[in-house]
Amino acid sequence: MDPIKQMQKQVCEELHGSITIVVLGASGDLAKKKTFPALFGLFKNGFLPAKTKIFGYARTQMDHEEFVKRVTQYIKAKGLETQLDEFKNILTYVSGQYDQDEGFANLNELIRKSEKERKIEVGNRHRMFYMALPPSVFIPVAQGLKKNVYAREGLNRIVIEKPFGKDSESSAVLAKALANCFTERETFRIDHYLGKEMVKNVLMVRFANVFFSQVWSRVNIDNVQITFKEPFGTEGRGGYFDGFGIIRDVMQNHLLQVLSLIAMERPISTEAEDIRDEKVKVLKCIHPVTVENILLGQYVGANGKPGYLEDDTIKNKKSLTPTFAALVLFIENERWEGVPFILKAGKALNEAKVEVRIQFRNVAGSLYQNAARNELVLRVQPDEAVYIKFNNKQPGLSYQTIQSELDLTYQYRYTDMSIPDAYESLILDVLRNDHSNFVRSDELEAAWKIFTPLLHKIDERHEDIHLYPYEYGSRGPAELVPFIRKYGYDRSNVNYKWPLQSVATTANKEQKL
Ligand code: BG6
Repeated sequence: MDPIKQMQKQVCEELHGSITIVVLGASGDLAKKKTFPALFGLFKNGFLPAKTKIFGYARTQMDHEEFVKRVTQYIKAKGLETQLDEFKNILTYVSGQYDQDEGFANLNELIRKSEKERKIEVGNRHRMFYMALPPSVFIPVAQGLKKNVYAREGLNRIVIEKPFGKDSESSAVLAKALANCFTERETFRIDHYLGKEMVKNVLMVRFANVFFSQVWSRVNIDNVQITFKEPFGTEGRGGYFDGFGIIRDVMQNHLLQVLSLIAMERPISTEAEDIRDEKVKVLKCIHPVTVENILLGQYVGANGKPGYLEDDTIKNKKSLTPTFAALVLFIENERWEGVPFILKAGKALNEAKVEVRIQFRNVAGSLYQNAARNELVLRVQPDEAVYIKFNNKQPGLSYQTIQSELDLTYQYRYTDMSIPDAYESLILDVLRNDHSNFVRSDELEAAWKIFTPLLHKIDERHEDIHLYPYEYGSRGPAELVPFIRKYGYDRSNVNYKWPLQSVATTANKEQKL
């Protein structure tokens, strides 16, 4: 069966043809930029059951037209106007408070009425709650939902997104409060990186290709780099960011999730719990990151762009919140002992890029002096690609070794591809009841353990913590290159750049010099 049809069937069977989706925080940014466009994507591709209704819930008072306008403004519907009109017909807005029963009771009444109108049988009155909310109201909303809106005649699913606390302690408090309202089976903790195409590809690359499984360990791998670069600063988001910093914002979650997929052992099956068991195991093998293994930075104004502290939304003008971090984790197990996993993340850098770079060891007793190290690169964004840097004879009369690549660039190989947004893919998983790409509570706990001691030191401005300035639009603090080298990363051919130039030409030029 066509895989798309198979998934549509799965959703239909799982939900018996109907669901009510409630988006809490429906007037906010996440809802309009991500949640509603993702829901429309699923609707237009036939993944929402026939009897679906979507309720938006938020504090803002607004009429139906205003709500529809707001939540459809980011939807790309050129040529899909009819489908968009049909989508609008399944939307309803309800306004209410987040900490009072009255609003939730009213929401419940409206849902019940709609379930009857849609002629949904008792037992199939399923409800999915999507919390597109600030963390300050996670707990009261979960409690309000449990008390007033929880489905008694069907399944319940709750979707929630970071921040899941600020450290081990606060995360545990949140976890406990949520667990009182929804079971672990009902809970889907989103890390949207797990919905990205290349991240979903990691296990397939590793475990469906015999030539990778053989080399995937300390025997052949020298170091692993996981890099996140954004070319813009905190502009406008400083209020949130200043209390969190880059480590909490993207490293403890997105980059660590990628790391766990790269480093975990082979799961006994592709079932969600088997995969998550292995992720938890590998996270438990990582010791908390230490001050010796970090490099922190904060951007300053340059090239006409404001520095972090000049951002109007940063209230503390002496803030020491890092906007850049490079840190090294070691996995104490048989496969990885001694291999540095270098995580790098920064805002206001020179480019937008997320990638995993696995650098192999030198060829032992190599015949060819200028042979560079092999690298396997998984480019997450932009422009998904998998490529291997390898050594090749320069074509022609020369016996020069040149660095070249085996290149799987998606846009050239999969010319008819259509890659959905991460949120679309993840909401589909919720509908299919597949937890593989969601964070389990013990996984979250293990992830916080790795970072909490360091985060506390940074928060307390411990004397061992240094913050290096870097210019807006630069590659990060100047100290970065020696920092990475210290952990063994070898960038022998600095002229090599993928995929923008012909390596043969570069080698020619080098020869002439
Ligand atoms: C979010 C962070 O989780 O991820 C943001 O809070 C960051 O600061 C964003 O910009 C990056 O996501 P993406 O999908 O644009 O790489």
